[in-house]
Amino acid sequence: MSRIITITSGKGGVGKTTVTANIGISLALKGYKVCLIDADFGLRNLDIPLGLSNRIILDISDYLQKLCSFNHIVVKHRTLKNLHLVPGSKKQVTEVEFLSFVEMLQEIDSLYDFILIDSPSGLESGFFYAINGADEVIIVATPDKTALQDADRVIGILESQNKQPLSLLVNGYKHNQEVDNILQLLNINILGAIPSDADIIAANNKGNPIALNPSLQSGVMFRKIASNLSKHHYNQRIDLPSYNQNFFTHRNLKLSF
Ligand SMILES: Nc1ncnc2c1ncn2[C@@H]1O[C@H](COP(=O)(O)OP(=O)(O)OP(=O)(O)O)[C@@H](O)[C@H]1O
Ligand SMILES: [Mg+2]
Repeated sequence: MSRIITITSGKGGVGKTTVTANIGISLALKGYKVCLIDADFGLRNLDIPLGLSNRIILDISDYLQKLCSFNHIVVKHRTLKNLHLVPGSKKQVTEVEFLSFVEMLQEIDSLYDFILIDSPSGLESGFFYAINGADEVIIVATPDKTALQDADRVIGILESQNKQPLSLLVNGYKHNQEVDNILQLLNINILGAIPSDADIIAANNKGNPIALNPSLQSGVMFRKIASNLSKHHYNQRIDLPSYNQNFFTHRNLKLSF
């Protein structure tokens, strides 16, 4: 049995794909068998930070249309052979194919320790299919107002569907106060916080997610977030960089599921 975790947001461009790639890399580095599914139908992009674009021959829609088996679409990471990618489709996916998506999750459930689904932004049908088969949902939000409003709406929808557990990953913060404000506003368990960091963009563009590089601060932070996720220990203090230490050590934050 795998843990199926969807990474979603509501607003686009807040870092879902980056978070999926980096948590996936971090879990694979710990030895887990990990499958990353690009469910951003119509806009394939999870292959880019993973540096796997040139290796894609078939994609998820070929499988959902039953043109090939699951093994045919999976792309293995170059160095982490226990990290697999299911490439997204550049085509829009039909309703019937969406139903096959849930069947696919059932088929591969026994093959992996973790299945991470990179959700599309917005609240269209693709979003609902991406969360439908998930055991857990990570909501990514940046500190800007529209991202928070959309995250709040997504939390409301997921709670109304009894989708649990939910956790929040704050991405792209610049000041501690921003994380504080988000936690007060959204009142949700926090998985971690990643600062705004140009190294993350550079790593994505090179096809080597920052989590592969333990000498870079955000790389270490992604590894710690994945470690907490793997242990289900959300009650640990988040290890933020030194300029953030006071914030998390001096506050009684709600960090556990
Ligand atoms: N913490 C960060 N600091 C700086 N840049 C970041 C950070 N996280 C992500 N980015 C950059 O922001 C951009 C959007 O990130 P990403 O593609 O992961 O977002 P997304 O939510 O998946 O977008 P979409 O909704 O379009 O799928 C990318 O250029 C990425 O490199
Ligand atoms: Mg994305």
